[in-house]
Amino acid sequence: MVLLYIVCGVIGLIVLNTLLGGPVPFLRWSFLRMLFSMKHLMSEWQVGDGREEAAASYVIAHAPAGNIDSAVAAIDQYAYRQKFLINVGDEKGAILDAAIDRVKPRRMLELGAYVGYSALRAARRLPVGGHVFSVEFNPANAAIARRLINHAGAADRVTVVVGSIGDGGKTVKALQEEYGFKPGCLDFVFIDHAKEAYLSDLQRILEAGWLHEGSVVVADNVGFPGAPDYKAYMEAEEGKRWQTKTHKTHVEYQKLIPDLVLESRLTSV
Ligand SMILES: C[S@@+](CC[C@H](N)C(=O)[O-])C[C@H]1O[C@@H](n2cnc3c(N)ncnc32)[C@H](O)[C@@H]1O
Repeated sequence: MVLLYIVCGVIGLIVLNTLLGGPVPFLRWSFLRMLFSMKHLMSEWQVGDGREEAAASYVIAHAPAGNIDSAVAAIDQYAYRQKFLINVGDEKGAILDAAIDRVKPRRMLELGAYVGYSALRAARRLPVGGHVFSVEFNPANAAIARRLINHAGAADRVTVVVGSIGDGGKTVKALQEEYGFKPGCLDFVFIDHAKEAYLSDLQRILEAGWLHEGSVVVADNVGFPGAPDYKAYMEAEEGKRWQTKTHKTHVEYQKLIPDLVLESRLTSV
């Protein structure tokens, strides 16, 4: 009986939220649909209802070609008004923007492109000659991201590489041999892929020697869904190899679920 009241209450809230134009993003069918597809999302990295492809079509229809700002705004609009997307989003995106502005990276590595939202946010803030390499292991997501990056006119600043830093050396080798990654080449890393791979992939990047003193690593979702081993590592390394600023923020596209973004500066290699 209690369960019935809860279910009816949630449905009522969703209907009310829909009638009000969806001001609470996670009180939407598309958010619930995503919650029920969590297993699929965590294995395939698409929700399973075609929303990532639909988001690309929406952006191409609504944002003029060659305009990164419009493309970023159209992706946010889709996520707020149409269907929830797992981008870093506008609130945490501003934290990423500010970190990029401080570092002015000439070469940036992103782990996890999804539909290319954060790569586009980064592209518009890079200094002249700056470049983002975004490693994405789902070829369908990589194709969507490339489509949006091309549409926004950012293909000269963003390269999406299909692969994974933890694939036994294949992607690391490709980054070195095809894209010129060498010791000390990376000014900035944005980690936003499988939460359980944050720490191991950072360690692989350190082993490759790509970071230099002063390189900055920003990690999304450290609070929710959470990357506890990565957080514990940065806490243990505080004042030793790394200096970390913890940004208290919220999960994308809503204000009720808290999240943490870690911005860590490498103080010695
Ligand atoms: C949260 S989304 C990235 C969102 C994106 N950074 C943004 O804010 O626009 C995570 C992405 O990481 C990808 N991914 C998951 N595990 C990965 C791995 N081990 N290596 C590379 N990409 C991975 C998924 O396919 C998915 O597209």
